[in-house]
Amino acid sequence: MTTTTFLLLLGFIVILTTPLQAQTPVHIVPISWVQNAIVKGAVCLDGTPAAYYYEQGQGDGANNWLVFLQGGGWCVNQTDCFNRAIYGKSSGSTKNISLTFPFGDFLSNNQTNNPDFYNWNRVYVPYCDGSSFTGDVEAPDSVTNVTYKGARIFRATMDDLLSRGMNGAQNALLTGVSAGGLAAMIHCDRFRGLLPWFARVKCLPIAGYFVHEENLPGSKQFEVAFDALIHLHGSAGMLPPQCTSIMTPSLCLFPQYLLQYVTTPVFIAMSSFDQVQIKWNLFKEDEVCLVSQNCTHDQKQAIQELRSDVLAALPKAPPLSRGIWMTSCIAHEMPYYSTLTIIGNKTFAEVFIDWYFGFNYLQVIDTQIEPQNCSLYGIGPKQL
Ligand SMILES: *[C@@H]1O[C@H](CO)[C@@H](O)[C@H](O)[C@H]1NC(C)=O
Ligand SMILES: *[C@@H]1O[C@H](CO)[C@@H](O)[C@H](O)[C@H]1NC(C)=O
Ligand SMILES: *[C@@H]1O[C@H](CO)[C@@H](O)[C@H](O)[C@H]1NC(C)=O
Ligand SMILES: *[C@@H]1O[C@H](CO)[C@@H](O)[C@H](O)[C@H]1NC(C)=O
Repeated sequence: MTTTTFLLLLGFIVILTTPLQAQTPVHIVPISWVQNAIVKGAVCLDGTPAAYYYEQGQGDGANNWLVFLQGGGWCVNQTDCFNRAIYGKSSGSTKNISLTFPFGDFLSNNQTNNPDFYNWNRVYVPYCDGSSFTGDVEAPDSVTNVTYKGARIFRATMDDLLSRGMNGAQNALLTGVSAGGLAAMIHCDRFRGLLPWFARVKCLPIAGYFVHEENLPGSKQFEVAFDALIHLHGSAGMLPPQCTSIMTPSLCLFPQYLLQYVTTPVFIAMSSFDQVQIKWNLFKEDEVCLVSQNCTHDQKQAIQELRSDVLAALPKAPPLSRGIWMTSCIAHEMPYYSTLTIIGNKTFAEVFIDWYFGFNYLQVIDTQIEPQNCSLYGIGPKQL
């Protein structure tokens, strides 16, 4: 494989390597409060200031940055957002936020466990706005006093990181899981625009490629949520105007449309049997039966049709600008480091880092049409 060829690889899980190692050790990183958060409006649903956890890069990683955006669904109406603001341990507030956070997986500082990023600047951004970091409404909600300002949290957090040296980044990666993965796509070009022209900047949304499902009957929950982002959180300003000017703005939150207007390279990591995809695009019962592996014939068929629609909605762009790692695991989130291999003996981490540095341009899609239990590889079904 040379650096100049595009490879589109469709393969089976062929290599059963060693089972996942015991949970890798984590280390503890202290909280950083966003500077002037209140003045900048960088506040959670309950008006508390935004925060993040940051560990400085070292050695030849000193100018490299990995920024991770936490996920956690969306709040979709006034009551829902109010409940996050008052009850959620941190989902709508930093009032009770932990003053330290354990960095594991690709945030670890241990070279053995995290060869790709151990010495990069690493940032974990908690999610407390319920809008994938897109909300921007000036005044608090007149009924609940909730504030909708996720976009300002993103911007003010980036300002802090730029002043900590990200303005001189050589390599940077914006990543996140689920609603945080969606945020990584929404903000990908914006993130790119904040960094030096010479920097290598790419984005890695994990478990965030939720599709606009038109063919199957379903609970239409993504449409409800994305409509709320536009109309409750005031998110439209964070979306590409080229998209919102030609279709209903809430549709521009679906990655299949959004990514048509994103020029920065994006690598999509997802399962074609993603539990949230199934629960929100089909029905709750379909996700439940998938996990307990007792679906009826009709349910299995609907899940297969959704999988086909997910694959059909993947970007058609060349692998250089759109990498793909699509498993057939029954899962939602997935770790960066796992022993799962889809083709050859390459793991997700190995495929991704090759793509990131441009050694190989890969789109890897598992062709197994039966949902797999990948718990052995640390990619387990999640309790939703
Ligand atoms: C509304 O929230 C703000 C913080 O965003 C707080 O300062 C203010 O006291 C709250 N007002 C009411 C009436 O609860
Ligand atoms: C608000 O959203 C929650 C969560 O989706 C839902 O259970 C509830 O019925 C909604 N309430 C209203 C008034 O729409
Ligand atoms: C903070 O913790 C206290 C005590 O556990 C709890 O009563 C309160 O609801 C929490 N507040 C938020 C905003 O999470
Ligand atoms: C890094 O992780 C390896 C494997 O878990 C462990 O043996 C080693 O002690 C760790 N190194 C440090 C510096 O913590």
